[in-house]
Amino acid sequence: MQLSKNPYTHILKLLAESSKKLKLSNLLFDQERSKRLEFKLGGLNIDLSGQLIDDDILQNLIALANAAEVKKKISELDQGNPINFSEKCKVSHLDLRKKARFEQKSWKKINTFVKDIRQSKKFKNIVNIGIGGSYLGPLTAYTALKPYCDGPTVHFVSNLDPTSISDVLSLCEQETTLFIINSKSFTTGETLHNAELAKSWLKKKNILIKNSFVSVTSSKVKALAWGIDEENVFDFDVGVGGRYSVWSPVGLPVMLGIGMQNFKSFLAGARVVDEHFLNTDIKENVPLLMGLIRVWNRNFLEHSSHGIIPYDQRLSFFPSFIQQLEMESNGKKVDVNGENLTMPASPVIWGEVGNNAQHSFFQFLHQGKETVPIDVLIALSPSGVSLDGDWEESHKRLVINAIAQVEALAHGSLNSCEPHKDFQGNRPATIISWDATDPFTVGSLIALYESITISSGFLWGINSFDQWGVELGKKLERQLLKRENLEQFSPRVAKFLNSK
Ligand code: F6P
Repeated sequence: MQLSKNPYTHILKLLAESSKKLKLSNLLFDQERSKRLEFKLGGLNIDLSGQLIDDDILQNLIALANAAEVKKKISELDQGNPINFSEKCKVSHLDLRKKARFEQKSWKKINTFVKDIRQSKKFKNIVNIGIGGSYLGPLTAYTALKPYCDGPTVHFVSNLDPTSISDVLSLCEQETTLFIINSKSFTTGETLHNAELAKSWLKKKNILIKNSFVSVTSSKVKALAWGIDEENVFDFDVGVGGRYSVWSPVGLPVMLGIGMQNFKSFLAGARVVDEHFLNTDIKENVPLLMGLIRVWNRNFLEHSSHGIIPYDQRLSFFPSFIQQLEMESNGKKVDVNGENLTMPASPVIWGEVGNNAQHSFFQFLHQGKETVPIDVLIALSPSGVSLDGDWEESHKRLVINAIAQVEALAHGSLNSCEPHKDFQGNRPATIISWDATDPFTVGSLIALYESITISSGFLWGINSFDQWGVELGKKLERQLLKRENLEQFSPRVAKFLNSK
């Protein structure tokens, strides 16, 4: 059922009208309310009290989720029903976090491979060639877990722009570099093109592909045809969507960086969130409540974008990762039955690490005409700082900055004499904090956002697991490369066809 057809949508629209009277300045001083809206999940503390909701709104949001049968849909996801309707397949990333995986042949194979590469030290550099989910997930986790990275150095090449691979290869030597072709489909143009460039680079020193390339893919046949040895192909189930795949062999660069024990801890962090998501009643179900708040802000308060602001430099790629996760999953215009949505789905997701964001677009967040709800993510202790001097003070100030911003956004500061100094406040923010950024926490954090994405998709009545919207551009690229049907293109195209 799409949102506009949910019987609780009407009443929530009315509540949104009356919620204009709600003031965060009052709500945040109601300590009983705050207690009800603060949750612990694994190592995460999640504070939803900075959202413009009261008990009445929350009750109706919960009723909305019940009417949309979200709990039933979550069970169907877990049971492996083919809920990716347009591709007629199940959605299987949750299986990758279950303990049963550790008994499977595929786990044993990758486990042995990672241990061998890390122990033998035959490769100094690993180059992951992949894009989208085959890049952002591993890059985000690898960067977040830098202090745990004691294996070979991992580099990431995604862009077709030759400067990307060229800069990386200038740091490597042929004899000690291992390439991972990370592509679920093994058809992605950017990835295959970069892989060919890497092949030529190895050839200069007569290095055999079979010794220097492995592949992670769901299309084993294509990887074998490209020239990868069977023992170097790590395949995974087609039901694992690219943006949900960091747990699968797609996470190989992370495994090589942090080792298998730490990777298991990363999976355990996700498993805690899954068990909660699958087994907890809606009233206490954190990802589901956060999915409801996405919908409340997007469709009832009509905020068209949402910010992700980590106060943790190690999470610098997290906003980009969540951008793909939510916008590729929920940037849809039809429901699961192919009917046009009459209320929009995904907000625009954007963000940047605080404090950098404060000195960039926070002006817009504080005084722009539109309200942008944000999630502020705070690591309460730093991880892996090896400095003398007053670095503890720096971290303390970082946390204080985060809190100062959410307080300023909530309470504002009125100034009718100098309107340019007037802050209306009442701008919502969720705060997610944890002790220090470690594999378990990063696993929980990513799994939390996956489940927010999926539950909001269920509320909108859309398929959060396909991405047909990326296909048209790819098709036109193929036509232009082959100079086919050029008459279909507008005249402006001609001048770009022969650029170097
Ligand atoms: O073009 C979009 C997309 O299909 C993403 O969904 C995916 O994460 C990315 O391309 C890379 O795909 P692959 O892993 O198949 O190379």
